[in-house]
Amino acid sequence: MKKPVRVTITGAAGQIGYQLAFRIASGQMLGKDQPIILQLLEISPALPALNGVVMELEDCAFSTLANVIATDDANLAFKDSDYALLVGAMPRGPGMERNDLLEANAKIFTHQGKAINENADHQIKVLVVGNPANTNALIASSNAPNINPKNFTAMTRLDHNRAKAYLAKKINSKSQDIKNMIIWGNHSATQYPDIEHVKSAGSHIKNELKLDWLENDFIPAIQQRGATIIKARGASSAASAASAAIDHMHDWVLGTPSDDWVSMGVPSDGSYNIAPGIIYSFPVRCSNGSYQIVQNLPISDFSKKRMINTEIELREERAAVEDLL
Ligand code: NAD
Ligand code: LMR
Repeated sequence: MKKPVRVTITGAAGQIGYQLAFRIASGQMLGKDQPIILQLLEISPALPALNGVVMELEDCAFSTLANVIATDDANLAFKDSDYALLVGAMPRGPGMERNDLLEANAKIFTHQGKAINENADHQIKVLVVGNPANTNALIASSNAPNINPKNFTAMTRLDHNRAKAYLAKKINSKSQDIKNMIIWGNHSATQYPDIEHVKSAGSHIKNELKLDWLENDFIPAIQQRGATIIKARGASSAASAASAAIDHMHDWVLGTPSDDWVSMGVPSDGSYNIAPGIIYSFPVRCSNGSYQIVQNLPISDFSKKRMINTEIELREERAAVEDLL
């Protein structure tokens, strides 16, 4: 067994948190040989519910769970933390867009960015799940000047996984055989799910798909999947969101397969002419605990237009929170 690592989950008594805590504690995120100290953060009124989560974690008797700290104090929750999943935030309801949450949730990420800066291990890897995830990640990072901005990422892995599953169904393949999917941009209705590089069982699938299906079925279905789930469940996606968060952290830490990449919201470095200053979803390859944006992919005019459109939305979100950066 390795030395234990500290994993912070915010909003740990919420829908996603309730899934995440158990999956992380059982070794699904960092491996069965990696002991975990869970540091769970909630708001004060949710502490009784969080206590229930702690009791259930104990009752699982996971061999990988070394300790659990449950608190409403962000400084304690981020103390020496190696990994943080920032989930605690208000979810949207029917008829809302994710950036309608910006005002309500922005303060949370200002405060938590500062607490990370003051308390966490300086190599901490942060995943922001709470919406609007890209801009919340930017706010948290801007408030943590001692931490490398590259260590703040936003979750578009759920969109990536949704797209793979949708494509597999369409072409009668399996999700795990769909490789090289890309989600560009914002985790919002402007995101661009790009199939131009996708292969199934080693062969490109672009020519099997009609433009009309792409434009009028696939792209809007992935862009609107979150809203479709809210309509069906009366609550936003939770188990699939937790699963995607596990996938994101797992691959960042343990690496991506050599024949594939994943989508992650990361600080733009100018790749693909997306100007720096926003957290934008790119295709990335991970190895040795770090990620690199995949370079030199050919980009069609069809893609370019959509990549710019989602970049514009992220710049507008940034402008709306400029005073917090
Ligand atoms: P939820 O309401 O069930 O849980 C949120 C929890 O956060 C609550 O228990 C609440 O008490 C807690 N919380 C609120 N403010 C907090 C703070 N300052 N510190 C710590 N905890 C705090 O919501 P949920 O369904 O778990 O969703 C959480 C967030 O994740 C929402 O913003 C939702 O929109 C977002 N989400 C993102 C994705 C994605 O793909 N990026 C997917 C699904 C959901
Ligand atoms: C999702 O994509 O399911 C989440 O971001 C929740 C939402 O508001 O759509």
